[in-house]
Amino acid sequence: MTATNLVPIPELYVSAESAVKLKLEATDLVSWDLTPRQICDLELLMNGGFNPLKGFLGKADYDGVIKDMRLADGSLWPMPITLDVSEAFAGKVEPGQDIALRDQEGVILAIMSVTDKWTPEKSLEAEAVFGADDLAHPAVNYLHHKAGPIYLGGPITGIQQPTHYDFRGLRNTPNELRALFRKLGWRRIVAFQTRNPLHRAHQELTFRAAREAQANLLIHPVVGMTKPGDIDHFTRVRCYEAVLPQYPASTTALSLLNLAMRMGGPREAVWHGLIRRNHGCTHLIVGRDHAGPGKNSQGKDFYDPYGAQDLFRQHEADIGVEMVDFKQMVYVQEKAQYEPRDEVEEGQTILDISGTELRRRLQEGLEIPDWFSFPTVVEELRKSKPPRAAQGFTVFFTGFSGSGKSTIANALMVKLMEMGGRPVTLLDGDVVRKHLSSELGFSKEHRDINIRRIGYVASEITKNGGIAICAPIAPYAATRAAVREMIEAYGAFLEVHVATSIEECERRDRKGLYKLAREGKIKEFTGISDPYEEPAKPELKLETEGNEIDYSAQQVILKLENMGLIKA
Ligand code: PPS
Repeated sequence: MTATNLVPIPELYVSAESAVKLKLEATDLVSWDLTPRQICDLELLMNGGFNPLKGFLGKADYDGVIKDMRLADGSLWPMPITLDVSEAFAGKVEPGQDIALRDQEGVILAIMSVTDKWTPEKSLEAEAVFGADDLAHPAVNYLHHKAGPIYLGGPITGIQQPTHYDFRGLRNTPNELRALFRKLGWRRIVAFQTRNPLHRAHQELTFRAAREAQANLLIHPVVGMTKPGDIDHFTRVRCYEAVLPQYPASTTALSLLNLAMRMGGPREAVWHGLIRRNHGCTHLIVGRDHAGPGKNSQGKDFYDPYGAQDLFRQHEADIGVEMVDFKQMVYVQEKAQYEPRDEVEEGQTILDISGTELRRRLQEGLEIPDWFSFPTVVEELRKSKPPRAAQGFTVFFTGFSGSGKSTIANALMVKLMEMGGRPVTLLDGDVVRKHLSSELGFSKEHRDINIRRIGYVASEITKNGGIAICAPIAPYAATRAAVREMIEAYGAFLEVHVATSIEECERRDRKGLYKLAREGKIKEFTGISDPYEEPAKPELKLETEGNEIDYSAQQVILKLENMGLIKA
C-alpha cells in the first residue's frame, strides 16, 4: 500500500487537449499580466504545492487566514495568497467574470473565475500576518509599495506551467517528487528549507537530522523569491550540487522550490510545513529564527528566535509534518569535528565564521578555512563574488557645467586604462546626450530620465565586472540616490562632487553657455536658472580651483585604492 504522503495530490491543471481549447477561448478574455511573485504563487497553486487552495483567496478565506490562519472551511492556512491588481484593471472586472492570467511574455498560464473583489486594509494585514506594520519587513514593504490596491479572488483553471529554462532537471512538482520517493522506496523524508549556500555546519546538521528521524533527506532550497540581497539562486544551486556528494550515496536528493518567500517567521514556518507535506515529505527541519526577516526599524528582531518552532509545534498535527528542531552545529577545534552547541564539553574551543565575516573574507579575497566550508562551494562563491579589486564599480562625477567633470573623468579613465585589468567606459554628459538621450531637453523630468539611463548602463557595466565613469551634471539628489541603488546591487559606487563654484564656472565659461544663459537665450540652465542640489555625503569632494587636473584624478585613484577597488 502506498503511504498517504506519497499518493498523488490534486492539481489544478486541465488535460492537455482541454488546455489547447481553453487557451484559444482565453484570448478573448480580459487578461492580467502576472507579477514575478504572482507567477511563483500561481505555479504552486496549480501544481498542488499550495493544496488545499483552489485559487487565489476570496474575501471569506482571506479574512479567516488573516485572523486565525484558517480558511473558511476551517483548514489550516497561514499565508494570504492573493491576486493584487491595479485600480485600472479592477475597474474592468466584476465577480462572475473569467480573466486570463498571463506570464511576463504574454503566455496564458491559467484562467481565474473571479468570485470576489475587495480593497484590503493593508496595515491590518501587515499587523496580523507579519506582526508589525513596519516597512523594514520585506513583505510589508512589498505589500505597501509593490502590491496593487485591490484584491481579486477565485478558483483557477490551470492551462500550463510557467516556463523555466534554468536547472530544469532539478525542478519537481509535488507529484513528481512523490513519484520519485515511491520509485526510490523512500517513506520517511525530512526536508531542509534553505535560501543560503550550504557549508559544513549545514551538511552536519541535515545529515544528523535525517539520521535522528531515520529518514531520507530532501534538500529543498527556495529559488523563487527570497530575501532581497541574498546570493542569487544560480550560484546557490551550483553550491548545493557541489555539496551533494558529501552525503552517503542514495540517502539524499536535491530539488528546487519555486516559492516566493515572505520572510514571515512563525507563520512562514507553518506554511513551509504544509508546502513540504504537499511535496511528499514527512518531516521538516525548523531552526532558530526560521524565515526571519532580520531587524525592524527600531533595530530589534521582528520575531522571537524560537517563535517559529513554537507555532509549528502547536499545529504539528494539522500540518501533517513532524518538526525536527535545528541543533546549532559548531566546530570544536580540539576534536576537529562538528558537534551540537549544547553538547560541547567545557573548556573546548569553538570556531565559527559569521555571515558578515564570510562576506568580508570573500570581498577581500581572504582565506576561508576547510573546516568551515567545502573547497568546491568556496570556489563557486568566489566566482560569483570576486574580491573587490576584481569587481566592477562606478565613479559618478557630479557638478556644474564647466566644473571640470569631463576633464577629470578623462584623466581618470586614462590612468585606469594604464593600470589595466578591467575594461573602462566613460559616459560623459555631452556624449550621452548625443548617443543615448538625443531627444531629451533639460526639464526636471528629462534630466531624471537622462540620469537613470546613465545609471542603467553603468549598472550593467558594473555587473559585468567593468569600470563605468559617469560625468553628467546630475543636479537632483533623489535621482543620484536612485542611481546609487541600481549600481550598489552589483558593485561599488563612488560619488565624486566636483565642487567648483558657480562663480568660477561662469568665469571660465569654456563653452560660452553661461553668457547665453544670463541673456536668457538658454533656459533652465543649472546654477543660473535651474537648481543644483549639492551632494550631502559624497565619497569624495574635489576642490578644483587652484588644483591641477592630474592632482584631482590622482585623488580619485587614492580613494579607489582606499576602498579596496584597485590593488597593486
Ligand atoms: S543633466 O542635468 O545631468 O541631465 O545634464 P547633462 O546631461 O550632464 O548635460 C549637461 C550638458 O549640456 C549642456 N547644456 C546644459 N546644461 C545645463 N543646463 C542646461 N539648460 C543646458 N543646456 C545645455 C552643457 O554643455 C552641459 O555640459 P557639461 O559637460 O556639463 O559642461
